[in-house]
Amino acid sequence: MCSIIGYSGNEVAAPIIVKGLKRMEYRGYDSVGVATESNNQIELKKGIGKVNEVNSKIQLDTLPGKTGIGHTRWATHGKVTEFNAHPHPSNSGKIAIVHNGIIENFEELKKQLENEGYNFKSETDSEIIANLLQKNYESTKNVKETILKTVSEIKGDYAFVAMFENGQLAAARFHEPLIVGIGQENVFLSSDVLGFIEYTDNVIYMKNRNIIILDKKDFQILDFNGKNTEYEITKVSKEFGDVYKGDYAHFTLKEIYEQPDVILKSGEKTIGDIEKAVDYIKNAKNIYITGSGTSYNSALIAKQILSKYVKIKSEPIISSELQFSPEIIERDSVLIAISQSGESADVLEAVRIAKKLNCKIISIVNLLTSSLVRKSDITLGMNCGPEIGVAATKSFTAQLTILYKIVQKLSNNITIDFEKFAESILKIIENPVKIQKIAKELKNVSDIYILGRGINYPIAIESALKLKELTYIHAEGIPGGELKHGPLALMDSNVFVIIINPNDSTYADTLTSAREIKARGAKIIGVSDIESDLYDYWIEIPKIKEILYPISEIIPIQLLSYYSALEKDTDPDYPRNLAKSVTVK
Ligand code: AGP
Ligand code: GLU
Repeated sequence: MCSIIGYSGNEVAAPIIVKGLKRMEYRGYDSVGVATESNNQIELKKGIGKVNEVNSKIQLDTLPGKTGIGHTRWATHGKVTEFNAHPHPSNSGKIAIVHNGIIENFEELKKQLENEGYNFKSETDSEIIANLLQKNYESTKNVKETILKTVSEIKGDYAFVAMFENGQLAAARFHEPLIVGIGQENVFLSSDVLGFIEYTDNVIYMKNRNIIILDKKDFQILDFNGKNTEYEITKVSKEFGDVYKGDYAHFTLKEIYEQPDVILKSGEKTIGDIEKAVDYIKNAKNIYITGSGTSYNSALIAKQILSKYVKIKSEPIISSELQFSPEIIERDSVLIAISQSGESADVLEAVRIAKKLNCKIISIVNLLTSSLVRKSDITLGMNCGPEIGVAATKSFTAQLTILYKIVQKLSNNITIDFEKFAESILKIIENPVKIQKIAKELKNVSDIYILGRGINYPIAIESALKLKELTYIHAEGIPGGELKHGPLALMDSNVFVIIINPNDSTYADTLTSAREIKARGAKIIGVSDIESDLYDYWIEIPKIKEILYPISEIIPIQLLSYYSALEKDTDPDYPRNLAKSVTVK
């Protein structure tokens, strides 16, 4: 989701801010802007598009001064326009803000401020923060009092950085990420460590309901009541800096290719430990598994493998749905929360609900510095390195690998040779020529259906998600047996159907579905370890243990989605309208 950044130090701020915004691009955004202070004057530039595009048009990085703020916006309130882009100045121009999140009571506050003579130039909820700060600053003449009063008036989830014309920066955090980077001669405020990692690896993860007031490089951290709070300066791993594409054309391709390695590494580095997680699962009254998007699709697979291989019942819950039926969760149970970023607002909300009911939280997370880790009793680290492509690829494989390790520990008779498995995956990705050819065929297709049964059905849904995100083609995952209950009506010679059909207990039934589809003239792509005349195109997967099929099925579909994106000339790393970590509900 959007990124905010603030800089105060002894170097010219704008180029540092632009570089930081560029590094955080993977989070997803639609417009960009920078404001700096120099000689007690705030100057501001903003525009629609990518950081580099906007910068080459209007030179964001030439703004003067050693203090500044920057933003990449992911619009929630108001269209993608230059006026709606951040930073937003207050009416007097003496304060400017960047904001991540949503101000829920902005309409009410806007009306009040308009009645008092304030004008609004944007359609955003964020602009009210700038004018509210101005109003409170005019009455208190004190930055600390101003921020405290403002946070007591706004409702919603937010992280914002405010810059005052005297060059002071201040920021507040409420349910949105905010990290302080402490350099030798400078301080950074950012949504993500990538915003400043090349300057410092000393950080403070701001607690919720905390504010920070900066005076050059001195700072004060307070809670929303104005009391000094304790904070800890920690070191972040330099691996965060390692987010280069190397020889790959895109991050997405690099991340797809990293998967054999991920299978070996995932679950090794754990916070808490897997034994303890297994213990919680064994003794749980009830087990719920939650996540969003791809991480939810892992939860669907988790339910199936836990029941099938170790006879443990669990219930997958779409994180964003839980708030509407919290009664699903029984007190004193276990919630397994799966999230690559550990910052998805929906997942954090599900965890909040479960914690209120005294549930233990086991999280499966990639970003070990995230909010979800701090809210969990046990965290199992995915250990797959930064995932920059908006479409989740290697994190899905990492999640499944950890789930396999859990099942392996719970069972007496399942042994998985991860090394051998990783080798067989290598075979799929080493020769993408056939997949590249199929991608060319998909270029002008408008509908793709993906069929799978049992453990392969979540892969059908995950495949549809990958195709939608990367190619913008309408794609739908269907449980094989449901075909005759409706979707068969859609089959004709204009559609492509991907059949997920490994040689497991679902094989014969799924082949029957393929036959029914073929009879209606649709083109069939079979993903299977067995060839069939029914397939117009065959994507061969290795013959492996049934439990491992999901990973070997999704990897060729990730590649197919990636190469189809190239055919369609869409940007595989940054699909339109999407954000990498969705920090708003
Ligand atoms: C997957 O390709 C998506 N970009 C998206 O569905 C993602 O999986 C979802 O937003 C959850 O993110 P998380 O794992 O960081 O919580
Ligand atoms: N709600 C604000 C807007 O629409 C901020 C969105 C964001 O987090 O980028 O401008």
